[in-house]
Amino acid sequence: MSGHGSPIPMRSQKCGPLSGVAEVPGDKSISHRALILGAMAVGETRITGLLEGQDVLDTGRAMRAFGAEVTDLGDGTWTVHGVGVGGFTEPDNVIDCGNSGTGVRLLMGAVATTDMCVTFTGDASLNGRPMARVTDPLALFGTQAVGRRGGLLPMTIVGAADPVPVRYTVPMPSAQVKSAVLLAGLNAPGQTQVIEREATRDHTERMLAGFGAEITTQDTDEGRVITLTGQPELRPQTIAVPRDPSSAAFPVCAALITPGSDVLVPGIGLNPTRAGLFTALREMGADLTYENMREEGGEPVADLRARFSADLKGIEVDPARAASMIDEYPILSIVAACATGQTVMRGVKELRVKESDRIAAMATGLRACGVTVEDGDDWWIVHGLGHGEIPGGATCVSHLDHRIAMSFLVLGMVTHAPVAVDDGGPIATSFPVFESLMAGLGADISRTA
Ligand code: S3P
Repeated sequence: MSGHGSPIPMRSQKCGPLSGVAEVPGDKSISHRALILGAMAVGETRITGLLEGQDVLDTGRAMRAFGAEVTDLGDGTWTVHGVGVGGFTEPDNVIDCGNSGTGVRLLMGAVATTDMCVTFTGDASLNGRPMARVTDPLALFGTQAVGRRGGLLPMTIVGAADPVPVRYTVPMPSAQVKSAVLLAGLNAPGQTQVIEREATRDHTERMLAGFGAEITTQDTDEGRVITLTGQPELRPQTIAVPRDPSSAAFPVCAALITPGSDVLVPGIGLNPTRAGLFTALREMGADLTYENMREEGGEPVADLRARFSADLKGIEVDPARAASMIDEYPILSIVAACATGQTVMRGVKELRVKESDRIAAMATGLRACGVTVEDGDDWWIVHGLGHGEIPGGATCVSHLDHRIAMSFLVLGMVTHAPVAVDDGGPIATSFPVFESLMAGLGADISRTA
């Protein structure tokens, strides 16, 4: 699991129609933020629907190490007794964030403006991912960072004792970088401003407002300008975490490509900064509807209904939508393989620095399964073979990446020969109930060792 356990080889093979209700777990992005902001508030925050995946559990453990009281009450309900902005204590030991880029980058921001020293590490995947994108802006507050060559973990952050507020334009579309700067800005005096040229997921901004911080967002010629007033007293909250659209993507896409399927995926967060995949699928001709639209805990939510879609067509995915579906390109490429015509995905350089190089990982596995894929630095094209036309029969490498493993297991549901993955262990980082949930719908996915 997340690089700490033995590999879990898995296999997926053709199955009958999928049907039923898929209750996917809580949103990973929102779960991390609920624990971190709960720990920075004064008093007790109550969280329901928390994702109990390894990534989030690692963040919860870190919050305890920083002095917050984090309690699991069962059934996804947790409480966090926060220590207030600037109230973290220096942990006795190294903080292991496992597989989680979101966890480590947000935590670096959260400790950057407190006078303490913290060493972060992770698994082999996380320790290969770039951290300078976070430590560069944190240096502007007065934070020091010393890591391995190339700005890699393990890395020690020395928080600024006398932080200054910062104005920073995020050079790449990254909610993690934006959020790290905002969390650092919480304990800096005055106003910290973050500018993003392309809108990325805005859960940090929404949640900071909910916790009572003074935060505004303005759309300007420069981009979105987010202004946060530092050193607020954050008020504890009751947070109902919506279900994760990035996890919903797997049963939804599986239903769209498996003949005869009809699956309901209730209570999915449809924040526009996250819902790009569903728009793209509908453009491809997917029979995907939103039912019972509502608002829960400051986030738009709906029940998704996905039915087998016989006439999926390849599309040119609008690059302006990339940030809103960045984690969903791997599973989109599976749907694209089952569609007719080419699906062209451009402006997706960020995919190369996720838990794995997701373009390389998917292109290699798809080719091994008989699908033609072209790729370049920031683009890739999948040549769809149409329904029921994919040979399969390969073992695909997951590269410690949950979304790569789940994508190939969905592919195996519709290929002539089964598809195997070398290690499904990382699935537990974001979607610990994936196997039982998919089995409940009718999928035939098994562990092979
Ligand atoms: C996340 C932001 C995205 C996304 C990740 C979760 C977040 O990463 O890929 O899974 O919760 O802020 P980037 O900020 O690097 O794009």
